[in-house]
Amino acid sequence: MAGAKLLLLCVCGGFSAYYFYSTESVTPEMVRGKRVLVTGSSTGIGEQIAYHFAQMGARVMLTARRAERLREVAEKCLELGAGSAHYVVSDMGNLTSAQNVAQETRNTLGGLDYLVLNHVGGSGSFGTFQGDMDSVLSSLTVNFLSYVQLTSGALSALRESQGGIVIMSSLSGRIGAPFTATYSASKFALEGFYSSLRREFSLQKTNISVTVAVLGYIDTENAVKKVGDKVSMLASPKQACAREVVRAAVLRQAELFYPFWGIKPLVLLRDWAPGLVGKILDTFYILENIV
Ligand SMILES: NC(=O)c1ccc[n+]([C@@H]2O[C@H](COP(=O)([O-])OP(=O)(O)OC[C@H]3O[C@@H](n4cnc5c(N)ncnc54)[C@H](OP(=O)(O)O)[C@@H]3O)[C@@H](O)[C@H]2O)c1
Ligand SMILES: *[C@@H]1O[C@H](CO)[C@@H](O)[C@H](O)[C@H]1NC(C)=O
Ligand SMILES: *[C@@H]1O[C@H](CO)[C@@H](O)[C@H](O)[C@H]1NC(C)=O
Repeated sequence: MAGAKLLLLCVCGGFSAYYFYSTESVTPEMVRGKRVLVTGSSTGIGEQIAYHFAQMGARVMLTARRAERLREVAEKCLELGAGSAHYVVSDMGNLTSAQNVAQETRNTLGGLDYLVLNHVGGSGSFGTFQGDMDSVLSSLTVNFLSYVQLTSGALSALRESQGGIVIMSSLSGRIGAPFTATYSASKFALEGFYSSLRREFSLQKTNISVTVAVLGYIDTENAVKKVGDKVSMLASPKQACAREVVRAAVLRQAELFYPFWGIKPLVLLRDWAPGLVGKILDTFYILENIV
């Protein structure tokens, strides 16, 4: 018992130290003129990430399927102080189109410093897995394979700039949560692929940082529409989330947990007390609203 208490004390102490002393800050000078591609930037967290980079004078390339929204976001980026703002329309369900985005970005920006892979789509809705293979394929294509495609298209430019890759993951990419089987599969795949890639870069002295952002529930329009009445959980603000993601990217951190206290303890407990973690997570679902 005393041992357990001591362990708890150490873990809490470690957290607090990390929390209060990880205050290294990002200044606009570190970002000005950097070339950034943000996928899924027509709305949500991606849109906010583009604004944070823009505010610090970065040159941004946006992409998603909706041209009109992208045009508006690009305009706002310029107002906020972006060095330049362009966009390219692409459906990430089409890997040829994803490859063209990487090409178009290199042509337009003349290179790349940050590849921010953020888009999420595919036809998977929040609910019981019904055996629909088309939605499995589409989720894995949009949410995993296109990330890999964009990465291979950007690798030589990132090598040259000693840049960084940012991957948006989720608690569902670390712990299997119910009603999101195909989404969860794509996030686990990302975690496996990019943590492997990070070790490879490290061993081969390739100076490209790989930042994985493990996110909890964030208050984007689409997320709230999808799960708002199905989970009883407080959503964290997308602006603060985007700010933390940009900070982790610029500081070349391997991982970011946001919101930290909502995510990190569950991830740490995962292998020690999986039953307990499952029970804690179960309490958040409003089953009568889930089909
Ligand atoms: N919000 C949360 O609670 C939460 C929690 C954990 C992790 N995350 C992760 O954070 C990231 C951003 O989430 P979010 O809530 O900001 O998402 P969101 O608001 O739904 O935005 C998704 C973006 O992806 C684009 N997109 C969707 N399908 C596409 C396709 N087939 N081809 C190209 N672009 C496509 C959308 O633009 P168009 O419709 O214009 O194509 C949009 O810009 C995702 O990786 C998500 O998994 C979010
Ligand atoms: C995929 O994208 C490419 C390049 O934009 C395009 O030529 C092709 O027609 C697209 N394929 C489908 C099935 O839409
Ligand atoms: C790796 O790249 C970063 C950013 O470009 C740079 O600050 C750092 O000095 C580089 N490290 C090495 C070992 O070259």
